[in-house]
Amino acid sequence: MPEKSEVSYRQTLQMRKSFVGKSCRLHFEVSPLKIVRASRQYLYDDTGQEYLDCINNASHVGHCHPHVVSVGQEQMSKLTCSYGFLNDQTAMYAKHLISTLPESLCVCFFVSSGSEGNDLALRLAASYTKKHDVICLDEAYHGNLGNLVEISPITYKRLGLKHQLKEWVHVAPTPKTFRGKFGADEPNSGQLYANEVLKLIQKAKQNGREIGAFISESIISAGGIVVPPENYFTHVYRYIRENGGVCIADEVQSGLGRCGENYWGFQVHNVVPDIVTIGKPIGNGYPLSAVVTTKDIADSLSIFSSTFGGNPLACAIGRAVLEVIENEKLLSSAKNVGKCLKDGFNEIRPKHPMIGDVRGVGMMVGIELVMDRENQKPATETAEILAYRMKEKKIIVGIEGPDKNVIVLLPPLCFTIDNARFVVQTFSEVLASIESEAASVGLMNNKEAVWGHAESVPMDVITGQHSINVSNLSDMDEDNDHDTVTKRARYEEVD
Ligand SMILES: Cc1ncc(COP(=O)(O)O)c(C=O)c1O
Repeated sequence: MPEKSEVSYRQTLQMRKSFVGKSCRLHFEVSPLKIVRASRQYLYDDTGQEYLDCINNASHVGHCHPHVVSVGQEQMSKLTCSYGFLNDQTAMYAKHLISTLPESLCVCFFVSSGSEGNDLALRLAASYTKKHDVICLDEAYHGNLGNLVEISPITYKRLGLKHQLKEWVHVAPTPKTFRGKFGADEPNSGQLYANEVLKLIQKAKQNGREIGAFISESIISAGGIVVPPENYFTHVYRYIRENGGVCIADEVQSGLGRCGENYWGFQVHNVVPDIVTIGKPIGNGYPLSAVVTTKDIADSLSIFSSTFGGNPLACAIGRAVLEVIENEKLLSSAKNVGKCLKDGFNEIRPKHPMIGDVRGVGMMVGIELVMDRENQKPATETAEILAYRMKEKKIIVGIEGPDKNVIVLLPPLCFTIDNARFVVQTFSEVLASIESEAASVGLMNNKEAVWGHAESVPMDVITGQHSINVSNLSDMDEDNDHDTVTKRARYEEVD
């Protein structure tokens, strides 16, 4: 049954357009969903339609998990904010969170967003090393605060903005082996990409500058779920430390068990950072973020304060999330279900010339789409069409990568093997129809498009050029999805 909304879909859309900044983007910009409630790995729109959520990594243990909700409600009725006072929730949460990390990472700071966390991480690095220069990756996203925009090249690259690199920022190539500077056939790609970082350190020195910090995600999410090659971080961390810098791991997306088996993405690479930033998943959607570091680095910062950071409500929720992860064995589930997802995509890969690469760890999976495997030209528009058509099939996927051609799956960890199979099967059907259409207009090698049948994808949108007419997609979406349209119309009549 649809929930009775305060205002109709059209009114919500109108108010959003009128009163919320245009730069705050929506998923499915031309026909956005109005989500009114969510449970576990499912979202429900204003007509009561259910969608399988493959992108909400912040709702880590499942939307509105009953344990997290009840702990939150109880704490909210007792005490929400007690800045500057002792509180059990904050102390016990810090202790519990630290128990999931390597021994050296033993002091916590709490803030309310990943951006605040990364900003604090940069401050900690500078206060400890007395150096302000930072090395970041060229497809990185680290947040929306002033300094973080400067070390998030993907933000301005994707938008095609002219950007003046700040003199304290040094940008290294993203260590990717598909469509990267060094390929998968290169046996030593980890070392080769690490050499690029070493070159930056040396060049900075020649210019009278010194690197204070290297920051990277353990699995680079905005770059399109890039898993850096073996030994990359081992070499980079050594070069940075030998030159007096510290290493920051941004675990905002990859942390808290998403990579499966372990709590932290850096464990996939067998390294221990000096500073870790943790965000999105730890509050299961409630604003909570943490920076964890060594005692020496923490002590180097003389003063820090945050009104909301570490408030008893946020910390009670954080504790409940950790309890659910343990009780429901979500680390091993992330490993197993994630493997099923990745294996499934690898299995369908030979049948789909447009699948260039399948990669990821645990419940972070990326499928990179190309116009064909030989020239590896990014299939940007295909990715967009595919996401819209998956939405018609009631599955929500994301798109990432500098060319916006990587379909990403970062579902809540309660995602099941059946969910994984359904996603792979539906993806394969949808992509087959797109490939068939592309082949029929000569955009792909016909022989390669061995199965599938043309459906409703408009031919003119699969061009590989940035000329997509997204309104076609919205019309297509609305026309084809009679169910939702009718339900919405019926519902709004009552409004
Ligand atoms: C890797 C990474 N770091 C930092 C951030 C910023 O987190 P927030 O949006 O909570 O400020 C994000 C957000 O998407 C992120 O993906």
